Amino acid sequence: MTLKPLILGAVGLLALLLVAGAGYFSLRASDRQAMPPLHSLHPDDPQVLRVGARIYAQQCAACHGAKGEGQPSWRDRGPDGLLPAPPHDPSGHTWHHPDEQLFAITKQGLAQLIDQPDYRTAMPIYGGVLSDDEIVAVLSWIKAQWPPEIRRRHDEINVQYRLSLSR
Ligand code: HEC
Repeated sequence: MTLKPLILGAVGLLALLLVAGAGYFSLRASDRQAMPPLHSLHPDDPQVLRVGARIYAQQCAACHGAKGEGQPSWRDRGPDGLLPAPPHDPSGHTWHHPDEQLFAITKQGLAQLIDQPDYRTAMPIYGGVLSDDEIVAVLSWIKAQWPPEIRRRHDEINVQYRLSLSR
């Protein structure tokens, strides 16, 4: 028996393993990319938007404005040291945050998101006040008010954020 068939066999086996391995990993990566995030917004679902509009008017409009225009001079801290409520319309930076962050800010609060437990803010924490579905609904309504260009850019921010999680 010569060594040649043995070596050829080993090379063949190695190639097979490499191909199978690459296939496995690319499958895993695409699985993760395709995995829907836990709290995606639904700005095109009329039923979700009906609930969202009601909650926005009841819970958010007093500070963020009936149309999401925010409070005056929202970039400057007031005499109490707290920031006024920022707009949710395109002039603010709500749309700079991916769905998951908007959900976390609303449910758990800013202090937890930025990992500064002592951060003082007028923004209430809605965990225990609104259900997860209600939080998704109100944020979906906010997104539904944005013009198409801002909605498209926000969709792109979501894609980039989810890709960054799967890396
Ligand atoms: C009592 C006033 C008040 C109410 C009511 C309120 N907010 Fe806020 N919200 C704020 C303030 C003030 C900030 C800015 C906080 C900071 O940065 O310290 C804020 C910030 C936010 C942000 C982050 C925006 C960004 O650009 O980073 C989101 C999202 C948000 N609010 C959503 C909501 C939603 C949804 C509701 C209703 C369910 C709501 N807020 C109700 C005062 C309020």
